[in-house]
Amino acid sequence: MLETKKFSPPKQRAFDARFEAQKIAFGPVVFHCVRYACKRGMLQALAEAGAHGLTLDELEATGRWTRYAIKLVLESCLSAGVVLLEGGRWQLDKVGFCLISDDITRINFDFVHDVCYQGLFELERSLDAGKPLGLSHLGAWPTLYEGMAELPEPAKSSWFAFDHHYSDTSFPDILPDVFATAPRRVMDIGANTGKFSRAALAHDTRVELHLVDLPQQLAVADRHLVDAGLRERATLHPRDLLDPAVALPAGMDLVWMSQFLSCFGEAQIASIFERVVASLSEQGQVLVMDTFWDRQRYDIAAYCLINTSPYFTAMASGNSKVYESGDYIRLAEAAGLRLLTVRDGIGYCHSLLRFARA
Ligand SMILES: C[S@@+](CC[C@H](N)C(=O)[O-])C[C@H]1O[C@@H](n2cnc3c(N)ncnc32)[C@H](O)[C@@H]1O
Repeated sequence: MLETKKFSPPKQRAFDARFEAQKIAFGPVVFHCVRYACKRGMLQALAEAGAHGLTLDELEATGRWTRYAIKLVLESCLSAGVVLLEGGRWQLDKVGFCLISDDITRINFDFVHDVCYQGLFELERSLDAGKPLGLSHLGAWPTLYEGMAELPEPAKSSWFAFDHHYSDTSFPDILPDVFATAPRRVMDIGANTGKFSRAALAHDTRVELHLVDLPQQLAVADRHLVDAGLRERATLHPRDLLDPAVALPAGMDLVWMSQFLSCFGEAQIASIFERVVASLSEQGQVLVMDTFWDRQRYDIAAYCLINTSPYFTAMASGNSKVYESGDYIRLAEAAGLRLLTVRDGIGYCHSLLRFARA
């Protein structure tokens, strides 16, 4: 996983290493140039020109960009393998094709730009303070979760596109896991806009759902449940689980936590697991669906997840991250749970951990 390739001779490796280091040093510069080329339609224009490409004069003749902007931006794109320059004609390269056509690339790009970029300047101070000090670029909340419902645009749309793109593709896949033990009372902690709860309520006409989240999010979930005609079997529990004294409703046959525990630091996760154990019925089980960078089949997924962690530091909470699966398992076991099964490869990059009382 993420291993360094060691095929080239030592001199070549040193050269490659210096080049790779420059890519890191200039990474933010390239990011902004490529974003301009994407956002302002330069890459699309090259895509439409196909293998024939476009000359500088032809690009300028469109009147959409200055000659200066075209040269500056496309040269940076050239350095990053986004475009090609052959015989004076600019063409889209494979990376450029991904940038304009691949959903997950666009979603990650927008998330990094609209939600994280300015705040990441405060990463160093955030790590030292254990607080999301970059969040002040979006609003004056202690954590992003308190401000989520009122995030300014385009951060709000980009955040939801990022969060939902990952979890939406997994929800249909896991409903059989959720109902494998025929639970009657299911608690969805970190219910957000209620997407999972609505899917579960629609899947099983007898199940009752208990949604737990901050009041701001539950107000949104409430509206969605009403609109979907599913409000009757749902109970809303506004709770701030950062407060260790806040208990969870009891008697749950199944506790569901999707992309939730990664919002917290280890001490808080330990406390949440303890309260989850107290909320379970005798035979109750816990399902945790999350993204673990150590359980990915492809390096590309591990790369994206590892580099999502600094968002949690600078923007979200100051002390949370994308964890390794062993971290959750250790904390769950310390709280009195026993790992029953692990299922990987759900949706893009989710794993499902099933626990019962030890
Ligand atoms: C990343 S979202 C995951 C949403 C959803 N479960 C999914 O899989 O898409 C995390 C959720 O946890 C909630 N949350 C964060 N901090 C919380 C807290 N202190 N108490 C209760 N809920 C919290 C957020 O409001 C948000 O809805």
